[in-house]
Amino acid sequence: LKVLVLAGGPDREREVSLVSGAAVAAALGEAGHEVRQSDVGPGDLSALDAFVQWDGDVIFPVLHGRWGEGGGLQRVLDERALPYVGCRAEAAALCMDKGATKQVLVEQGLPTPTGAVVERGALTTLQGVEAPCVVKAVDEGSSFGMAICQTADEATAAVGRLLGEYERVVVEQYVKGMEVTVGVIDAAEGEGVEGLPAIQIVPAGAFYDFQAKYESDATQYRFDVALPGEVMAEIQRLALQAYEVLGVRHMGRVDFLVDEQGRPWILEVNTIPGFTSHSLLPMAAAKAGLAMPALVDRLARLGQG
Ligand code: DAL
Ligand code: MG
Repeated sequence: LKVLVLAGGPDREREVSLVSGAAVAAALGEAGHEVRQSDVGPGDLSALDAFVQWDGDVIFPVLHGRWGEGGGLQRVLDERALPYVGCRAEAAALCMDKGATKQVLVEQGLPTPTGAVVERGALTTLQGVEAPCVVKAVDEGSSFGMAICQTADEATAAVGRLLGEYERVVVEQYVKGMEVTVGVIDAAEGEGVEGLPAIQIVPAGAFYDFQAKYESDATQYRFDVALPGEVMAEIQRLALQAYEVLGVRHMGRVDFLVDEQGRPWILEVNTIPGFTSHSLLPMAAAKAGLAMPALVDRLARLGQG
C-alpha cells in the first residue's frame, strides 16, 4: 500500500508524536509498504493534497493530542472522504475529552473514578471534592496538565493554575493502587476486536509521569500482573466494553487503575496511543505475536477499508 504517516502536529505532545510516527513509518516500510511521512496542522493541510496527488491508499495519523488525535484532523479527513487509520471524528473527540468519556462510562455503568468537570470562568467551589484527588486538563496526554493533590487546598490551587492554561479540567477521586493498561485492536478482517495482554506499569517514582513514560529505563512493564485471574478477566472485559461504548475504531489503549481492594477503574481510552520504543500498545501486540511491522500492517489495511 501507499501509506502517508502523519506525525508532529500542533499539540503539546508533538515531540512524542514525531518519535511515534518515525517508528510507525519504519515498521510500515519493513512490512513492504511504500511510505511517506509528513507534518500536518490546522494551518497547513498540504500533506493531504499531496496524498491525493500521489494516489495514496491510506493515511495513518500518528498524532497525539487535542487536534491530531482529538477529532480536528479526523473531521477534515472525513470531510474529504480520505481513508485513514483510527477513530472517526466523533469518537476521537469523545475519547480526547476526559469529562465526556467519564460521563459515557458512568451512563453505561462502567467503573470510572468519581469526578467533575470545572470550566474556566464558571463560578466554582471545590467544596465536596474529597482529597486526595487528581486534577487534569480534560484534553491532554502524556501527563501534561495534571496534578495529584493531597489536600482540598492543593486541589483548589491546581484547578486555578491549570485553568490559566486550559479551558476545562476534570477533578477526579485519586485511586491508590496499581496502573494497568490494555491495548485493543480490531481483528484483521475488521470483524470483532482483540484484547491484547494487560500490562502493569511500575514506575520507579511516585507515578507514571512524562519522564517515567518516555525517558526512564527504571519504569518496569510487567505482563505477569500481580492480580487474581478473575480481576484480570474483568479488566479485559471492561477494556472491550469501553472500546465499544465509546465507538473506538481500529485501535485503542484503555488505561486503568486497580485499587487496593482489587477493583479496576477505567481512566481513559487513548485512540492514537504512543508507538515509541517505550510505548505499551506495541509492547502488548508483540507479546501477542504481532511485532510492529505486523501490527501497523494490520492497522493500515483496516484504515484502507
Ligand atoms: N498520549 C500518549 C502518546 C499515549 O497515550 O501513549
Ligand atoms: Mg492519554
